[in-house]
Amino acid sequence: MLTETGAILEKLLEQVEAGGDVPRHIAIIMDGNGRWARERGLPRFMGHREGMKAVRRAVTGCLEMGVEHLTLYAFSKENWSRPPEEIAALMKLLSEYVERDKEELAEKGVRVRVIGDRELLSAAALRSVASIEGTTERGDALVLNLAISYGSRDEILAATRTLANRCIAGELTPGDIDETSFASVLYTVGSPDPDLLIRTSGEMRVSNFLLWQIAYSEIHVTPVLWPDFGESDLYEAALEYQRRERRFGRVTR
Ligand code: FPP
Repeated sequence: MLTETGAILEKLLEQVEAGGDVPRHIAIIMDGNGRWARERGLPRFMGHREGMKAVRRAVTGCLEMGVEHLTLYAFSKENWSRPPEEIAALMKLLSEYVERDKEELAEKGVRVRVIGDRELLSAAALRSVASIEGTTERGDALVLNLAISYGSRDEILAATRTLANRCIAGELTPGDIDETSFASVLYTVGSPDPDLLIRTSGEMRVSNFLLWQIAYSEIHVTPVLWPDFGESDLYEAALEYQRRERRFGRVTR
């Protein structure tokens, strides 16, 4: 007998056979860990710990659906202003995730890339980043972009500086700068723009996440708090995406 999750996946794959698209790239703003913990009278870090299990389910769900790129907002630049104990707990979770999951991710064909401002990361966090990127570098089923110390305005400014310096060095003229050359100096180079942006916990904001890249993404906001987000929620979002008509600013009828 099929579980409810299996039934939703089957429905999604039937739609694909009938010509529906699976999003190539899903980006997720994982929100609501703190509220999940508070509702249970637990410290905030317990919400983040539970959220890590939802990260595993999202990766499994993407592999099952054949999604090629998954970008997860794990720690924003603004998150550096949270209490030091919470930052320490999040960084510890990152190293635990790396140690516990890197081999399995590699076996499943997941390639992990960390995107964000690495200059602010501790030596220990940088070792974790190098370790997971190194172990998984041959993965060819799913690219998992983990956004850590990430801010989209920062990313855009850094890209602008890179291109300005290339102009000064005479490698480029300002007239050569176009969407392709700009995208090639963003952290996300190598991943197509997200087809689907999911935000959990019901907030209607993009929170400085992938501002350039989500220009034409479909947006799915769910009230589910991130620690409760499961494969079936991901498949539901993909089914809703299939029902949307993407026009990219054009008229289609
Ligand atoms: C937002 O919830 C979530 C975060 C700031 C952290 C996300 C981190 C994880 C899911 C776990 C670590 C992941 C990896 C890949 C190691 P919030 O704290 O802002 O929730 P609230 O709005 O309810 O307070």
